[in-house]
Amino acid sequence: MDTKAEPGTNVKIRIEDGIAWVTLNRPEKRNAISPGIVFEMVAAIDQLEMNDDAKVLVITGSGDAFSAGQDLKEYFRIPDAGDPRLRERLHNANAYWQWRRLMYYPKPTIAMVNGWCFGGAFQVLCACDLAVAADDAQFGLSEVNWGIIPAGIVTKSVAMALAQRDALYYILTGDTFDGKRAAEIGLVNFSVPKDELVDKTKALAAKMMDKNPLVLRTAKTAYHRVREMSWDASADYLNAKNDQMIMRDPEKGASKGMKQFLDEKSFKPGLGAYKREE
Ligand code: COA
Repeated sequence: MDTKAEPGTNVKIRIEDGIAWVTLNRPEKRNAISPGIVFEMVAAIDQLEMNDDAKVLVITGSGDAFSAGQDLKEYFRIPDAGDPRLRERLHNANAYWQWRRLMYYPKPTIAMVNGWCFGGAFQVLCACDLAVAADDAQFGLSEVNWGIIPAGIVTKSVAMALAQRDALYYILTGDTFDGKRAAEIGLVNFSVPKDELVDKTKALAAKMMDKNPLVLRTAKTAYHRVREMSWDASADYLNAKNDQMIMRDPEKGASKGMKQFLDEKSFKPGLGAYKREE
C-alpha cells in the first residue's frame, strides 16, 4: 500500500483570492477514495492549516464526480487481504482527515458537490462546515446495495446531519437523490444550476472571509463540543471559551466592534461585520 503519495497526484490544490480549492483528483475512478487520496489529503490539510493565504477551504472533485466513496478495490479489497497493521493505519488516517480533522479544522470549510457523491464521501460532506451542490449532483448511501452498512463513520455523520426519517430512508433503500433534494433535507445548504456552482461557492466563502478568523474558528469548535454536553456544562464551556477567545484575539475584535457601534456609530452588527483593518 502506498502511504507516501506524491503531492499533487491524487489531490490538487489551488489557492486563489483566499480560497484553497482542494480537488479530489481521480476522475477516471470517480474520485473514489484510495490510500493515495487518504495520505495526500492528510498532508494537504496539515499544510493548508499553516498557510495564511488559504482562509477558506473548498473541497470538491474533478470531472463529473464529487466522490464515489471509498475505493472498493484499493481501500477495501487490497488492504483487507494484506497486513492488518497497514489496514489499521489506513483506516486511522482516513478517519483523521475525513472527520476528526475536518470537523475541528481551524478554518471554515465548504464541500462543493459537483456530481456523484456516495457512501464514504458523506463523511467528508458532513464534516465540512457548509455544503453546496449542483442541482443535478447525485447522492446515495449505496452501502446497502453491495452488502455492507454505512460504516466508517458514515451512519454517525448522517444521523447528526439529517432527520431520522430521511436518514433511515436513504440508509435502508440506497435510493439516489439529487442536489435539490439534498438541500430540502438539509444535507447541503443550497443547490444551484451547475454553471453557477463555482461563483455561488466563492460568494459563500467571501461572506466568511470578512469575519474575524479566530471567532469563526472558536464558533465552530464550540458548536461541535456543546452537541455532546449537558445544558449546564455547555453554558460554562461557552462562557469560558468566549472569554479565552477575547483574551487571545490579536485584533481585539469584540472591543473594536463595540467601539464602532456604540461610540463611532460607523457600523451596525445586525447588518454585517465590523471594519477589521482599523
Ligand atoms: N471504488 C472503486 N472503483 C470505483 C468506485 C468505487 N467506489 N466508483 C467508481 N469506480 C471505478 C469503476 O470501477 C470504473 O473503473 P474501470 O474504468 O477501471 O472499470 C471507473 O471508476 C468508472 O466507473 P463507472 O462505474 O464506469 O462510472 P459511471 O459514471 O458509469 O458510474 C457511479 C458512476 C458512481 C454511479 C458508479 O461508478 C458507482 O456506482 N460507483 C460505486 C459507488 C459506491 O457504491 N460507493 C460507495 C463506496 S463506500
